[in-house]
Amino acid sequence: MAVNMKGKDILSIHDLSREEIDQILDTSQNFKMKKKLGEVYQPLKDKSLGMIFQKSSTRTRVSFEVGMWQLGGYALFLNANDLQLNRGETIADTARNLSRYLDGIMIRTFSHQDVLDLAEYSSVPVINGLTDLLHPCQVLSDLFTIKEKKNNLEGLKLAYIGDGNNMAHSLMFGGAKMGMHTSICSPSGFEPDPEITRLSRIDAAKTGATIDIQDDPVQAVQTADIVYTDVWTSMGMEKEYEARLNTFSRFQVNSALLEKAKEDVLIMHCLPAHRGEEITDQVIDGPRSIIFDQAENRLHVQKAIMALII
Ligand code: CP
Ligand code: NVA
Repeated sequence: MAVNMKGKDILSIHDLSREEIDQILDTSQNFKMKKKLGEVYQPLKDKSLGMIFQKSSTRTRVSFEVGMWQLGGYALFLNANDLQLNRGETIADTARNLSRYLDGIMIRTFSHQDVLDLAEYSSVPVINGLTDLLHPCQVLSDLFTIKEKKNNLEGLKLAYIGDGNNMAHSLMFGGAKMGMHTSICSPSGFEPDPEITRLSRIDAAKTGATIDIQDDPVQAVQTADIVYTDVWTSMGMEKEYEARLNTFSRFQVNSALLEKAKEDVLIMHCLPAHRGEEITDQVIDGPRSIIFDQAENRLHVQKAIMALII
């Protein structure tokens, strides 16, 4: 039975029920099919989405903007540098004002607390387009992509090799909710946030998934159905770039590492990639890579999210 998600904020996968995630994935499938068939479907006619960006973006911006347009609505790109927000207007007042004009707000920013505050003071639904802590829209798209390739999620094993960052955190929440074993393999000192680990293990206990934190890439990939990686230096951490190159060198997803993995392992990356750092050209462009399908699916999944909550 359909779950009513109208008005719901999409801030973290941890806040979503299994039924809500299933509904997002089913709706995404439906929207993707409609798009491939060239069917015009505009449930968000006359609706508008504001998109606040405090960090750069290629995929998130374009997929939300084009997605909203395909659904019949209008999306406004709001560079935070051009908003009064970056001149001292509070998040709360920004939320109160934008809610008077818009039907939804998407925000990409640094502090996760800012997104929570925006949602608290906004009367329209808020979507987290990435914070330092989480990237839920990416992982909802990733769950859709994995399901598309493997038919199900339950019982699969995903090994994430790299920084215990926003991507690792959302993958842990997504895996836990959907019964997919998730192994995070990071260098010492770069493990996921302990609170995210604790919360994801609580969710995992309900679905039979396991959340494993370790530091041996070979062991992590050996039994994996999916190997996932992300940049070693996330947006906002550029000062640590040189030091991280050194620390993470053992964690590159390359052909030698994949020789230890299953024949049919799938390779994922949220992009943008730093080719030659966390992943080699050979792997990203190789036969096991589903990375560009993953990028495409951002469009279909975010359209589903917007249509369900706005
Ligand atoms: N994966 C992702 O969110 O890409 P962008 O930073 O280009 O939006
Ligand atoms: N961890 C990366 C993800 C980019 C989509 C970052 O935050 O920069």
